[in-house]
Amino acid sequence: MFRTMRGEVYAIVNKCPHKQGPLSQGIVHGDSVSCPLHNWRISLKTGEALGEDKGCTPTIPARVDAGRIYLLREAVLAPRKKAAPPEKAA
Ligand code: FES
Repeated sequence: MFRTMRGEVYAIVNKCPHKQGPLSQGIVHGDSVSCPLHNWRISLKTGEALGEDKGCTPTIPARVDAGRIYLLREAVLAPRKKAAPPEKAA
């Protein structure tokens, strides 16, 4: 779970699409997070790697209502596909 400076809440699987780094230990800036291992930037909105990096981390729909955070149950309980390996630069 991430909360941005603007108060937006996002839920994203805690695995970087590069080499499964723990995104929860990354640094949030704007609506993205930098992976603590190799500094890939991941969009909190889409889970996509930003810039020239390629890959995607599953996101979980989340909303805040009356101070409580709600996650889409089916997305939390759904089995996860293994992340596709990153594309190599040409
Ligand atoms: S594991 Fe996240 S950038 Fe490498």
